Amino acid sequence: MGDLTDTVAIVTGASSGIGAATAVELGKRGVRVACAARRRDRLEELVGRIVGEGGAALAVECDVADRGSVEALVDRTLETWGRVDTIVNNAGVMPLSMMVDGRVEDWERMVDVNIKGVLYGVAAVLPSMLERGSGHIVNVSSIAGRRVFNGGAVYCGTKFAVHAITEGLRQELASKNIRVTCIAPGLVGTELQHGIPVEELRENVLKRMRENPPLTSEDVAAAIVYAMEAPANVGVNEVVLRPVWQEP
Ligand SMILES: NC(=O)c1ccc[n+]([C@@H]2O[C@H](COP(=O)([O-])OP(=O)(O)OC[C@H]3O[C@@H](n4cnc5c(N)ncnc54)[C@H](OP(=O)(O)O)[C@@H]3O)[C@@H](O)[C@H]2O)c1
Repeated sequence: MGDLTDTVAIVTGASSGIGAATAVELGKRGVRVACAARRRDRLEELVGRIVGEGGAALAVECDVADRGSVEALVDRTLETWGRVDTIVNNAGVMPLSMMVDGRVEDWERMVDVNIKGVLYGVAAVLPSMLERGSGHIVNVSSIAGRRVFNGGAVYCGTKFAVHAITEGLRQELASKNIRVTCIAPGLVGTELQHGIPVEELRENVLKRMRENPPLTSEDVAAAIVYAMEAPANVGVNEVVLRPVWQEP
């Protein structure tokens, strides 16, 4: 694609962290950005910032665990700007716990947001991308989609699924001129870790982050933009990025 000016992107989970940083970077490059998440106030603030810097953006309240809500997000973007060149399926939750503690509702939430949310995003953008014969689907997975860690059985399971789904999708879409990218960051300093409900697990991660600086959301946004700005004939299929100190 190269120059992204005047293209249209949807970013889910845009109300904080990686999604917000990505929306800001895209806005600076002249991308019209539909910023989606549940917290409207955060989205309004973000859109104000992007527009204030000369960009074009739209705040769309959306729950990615709700298929109709994701369809409405894509419809709204199509109605506003006539196309969706890129979707960044970034929304995610990480309520880590040990499976033996049986926090089944947290497992369901991770499956609903981290897996089904990505699937709903893919399903909603594909028809118009196939019709146009171009597009780019960027799914935000994690190092957790490569290796399993203590307390992360279900979270890692959802991210392994994102890796598998993204690779399968890439193979299917190779002949359709639709690019597919999996972004797999290591530790990034965001609100994500603060949502870990088990104090011991939460404190372990936060301590690790105090001792060693994690990646910033802007570091990951730069990787997403890199994949998007690659020349049209180049599919950046997977980007793995960790803070240099992060071993496993
Ligand atoms: N931080 C890390 O270390 C790290 C490492 C690897 C991968 N990741 C992945 O990066 C992605 C972004 O996470 P982050 O680190 O930037 O965390 P974050 O700051 O907590 O952002 C998560 C975003 O997801 C949104 N979200 C959660 N549930 C949602 C729902 N049901 N519908 C719509 N949006 C929802 C949140 O917005 P609302 O609450 O307003 O809906 C928020 O904007 C996630 O997929 C995460 O798994 C993070």
